Amino acid sequence: MNRFNYFMPTRMVYGQGVVKGAGESLALGKKALIVTGKSSARLSGALDDVLSVLPGEYVIFDQVENNPSVETVIQGGALAKAEGCDYVLAIGGGSPLDAAKVMAVLAVNEAHPLELYKGGWNKRALPIVAIPTTAGTGSEVTQYAVLTVEEEETKKGLSGPDLFPEVAYLDPKYTESLSLDVTIDTAVDALSHLVESYLCKRATSASDLVALQGMALWGTAIPALRKGDVDLKARDALLLASSLGGIAIAQTGTALVHALGYSLTYYDGFPHGRANAVCMRAYLEYTKSVAPERVETVLELLELTSVEAFGELMEDLFADYVGKLRLNPDTIENYVKKAMLTNNIKNSLGDPSVEELTKILQTSIM
Ligand SMILES: [Fe+2]
Repeated sequence: MNRFNYFMPTRMVYGQGVVKGAGESLALGKKALIVTGKSSARLSGALDDVLSVLPGEYVIFDQVENNPSVETVIQGGALAKAEGCDYVLAIGGGSPLDAAKVMAVLAVNEAHPLELYKGGWNKRALPIVAIPTTAGTGSEVTQYAVLTVEEEETKKGLSGPDLFPEVAYLDPKYTESLSLDVTIDTAVDALSHLVESYLCKRATSASDLVALQGMALWGTAIPALRKGDVDLKARDALLLASSLGGIAIAQTGTALVHALGYSLTYYDGFPHGRANAVCMRAYLEYTKSVAPERVETVLELLELTSVEAFGELMEDLFADYVGKLRLNPDTIENYVKKAMLTNNIKNSLGDPSVEELTKILQTSIM
């Protein structure tokens, strides 16, 4: 008998032109803190669309870096407070969206971000509007925010029910200005969310339904990704797949791929999706030994004949990077040690041991 609790409170508005179409209802209050990265909100046209219809006042914080730091969210939270903002509107990839969520907490709570990891927060975060410009993070429909925590030399997720955006506006057009590298990096992040959710101890019938549909959609974009010519039809599939990935991991969390990937980003500077790609083939190989039918289903939905074919797909997509990562035994030991401390590992089917994680990193593709 199925037993689960399914909570996804974000209203999703999907399709071309949805931001302008929202008009005045884009505002959730009197004054917005608009949070963006340094360029994608402008390049994608999303910021212009927002400003053309947004009623009321706003102030822009456009200094969110990739893999946002604690210092950045402190600055944004302080700006929201000083300016009397009563909601947050985030535009961009995972970094601006995640940073904006923590700023929404800090705007109304007297706390240092590191304290939030320990004791949570008391006052409900400001309401959040999320407008993704990449098809990867899924953050627009999750309760997670990931920051770089220098003290622990890793990326670390915060979560809370009030971190689910109130509304997400998704327009595949906004992803057209992304470079091919960023398109692929983010697409593989979305794929890892879908696959890890499906191959996760906390998977339920409801999360499976979402993950299965997401993987099938993602699969339709494989020819375009391989060709390096990602048209709007493929971008449409990838954006929806990435949101479905977000909805799925909002229920289940991610698993060992993310746990290992955080170190590859922190120490080796790999973009998040590429860091996940490094060990996905070895992860599928390992999981096949504990849940063969599930891995078979993943491959079928992606129209791939074997785990080896999955590895070849990753090698095709990341051809410029394959063979460039050299991890010595001490480094692998450190990455595995860090991964073993995460909740993501506890989510992984088969309860992978230190030895198994070590083997996964040793047999990774890059
Ligand atoms: Fe991710």
